[in-house]
Amino acid sequence: MSETPKPLILTGAKPSGELTLGNYLGAIKNWAIMLEEYECFFPIVDLHAITVGYVPAELRKHTYQCLAQYIACGLDPQKSHIFLQSQVIGHTELSWILSCLTPVGELHRMTQFKDKSSKPGASVNAGLLFYPVLMAADILLYNADRVPVGEDQKQHLELARNIAQRFNHTYSETFKVPEPYIPRAGARIMSLQDPSRKMSKSDENPGEAILLLDSPQAIRKKILSAVTDSDTEVRMAPEKPGIANLLNIFSAITGRSVEDLEREFGDSGYGTFKNALADALIAHLEPFQERYREIIEDKTFLHGVLKEGAEVAQARAFKTLRKVYRKAGFVERA
Ligand code: TYM
Repeated sequence: MSETPKPLILTGAKPSGELTLGNYLGAIKNWAIMLEEYECFFPIVDLHAITVGYVPAELRKHTYQCLAQYIACGLDPQKSHIFLQSQVIGHTELSWILSCLTPVGELHRMTQFKDKSSKPGASVNAGLLFYPVLMAADILLYNADRVPVGEDQKQHLELARNIAQRFNHTYSETFKVPEPYIPRAGARIMSLQDPSRKMSKSDENPGEAILLLDSPQAIRKKILSAVTDSDTEVRMAPEKPGIANLLNIFSAITGRSVEDLEREFGDSGYGTFKNALADALIAHLEPFQERYREIIEDKTFLHGVLKEGAEVAQARAFKTLRKVYRKAGFVERA
């Protein structure tokens, strides 16, 4: 008797800079625990990284770093398919077809597009506007059941669901409508200097984001200088966004509840609380960084992972693409 196939997860990160604690807590940390239960596709979405200004050599460096960090975070390449979006034919092809089913108004309404395009001096290219359609193509090309992401990607996921439904309605049932999977703890890690904004790879001030490869000294310095308030009480409250963010990080990294942390640190003062958080982060990231340093040196291994990942992904991608082309009325190649 054949086994029922596992449900499929697909999710990825852009190699547009060094991965942050936000990427880890909101996303990658949770992917590693899904390997047994799901068939997992983890593209590194390098085509998305060129929608804003970039330096080609940096993109290549960040792509290798991202790959080694995926693996160091526990994404076992034996149990998942890790690949580069640019190495699989189908993402951009499907994206074109889906873009012909997507009203431009929907793309203009995307919060991430509005944020990025309104930055002073931003050059707004068509790729930035079409970014969410390419993301929908990434997901639908593999018929993903679930997409684990941080909260900032919720709107893009909603759009991917609408696009899938529109395609199914226009042609005929083809795509699964993917479900978002957003973690309870760590879904939105905020900037350490401005807790009204999410922590991001592209933050200009280095004090805003903890990078996964930061040294222990840098981690402690960033946590100790994180913006708080003039009060002294360690408590989760809307009027204390800086402390709320630190509590959220502490809880996500240790698995302890916020109430438990409030009980321990409520009256201890911000200095003690921040130092304890820095200790926890440093201890948590140390084994990861050690693994990373070994992996990043081994380019033969990394190329092998990408080759295997791309082979599996390509076979799936061609299968979906053939079906989509047929439904859309294109003549099959003889
Ligand atoms: P990217 O590279 O910006 O982020 C990768 C993942 O990290 C999550 N994340 C956060 N979570 C919590 N707090 C934060 N401050 C934080 N910052 C980032 C993101 O939600 C994401 O899960 N558009 C995607 C890349 C993408 C994709 C896809 C994802 C392209 N195609 C298909 C899933 C499926 C992005 O911007 O990732």
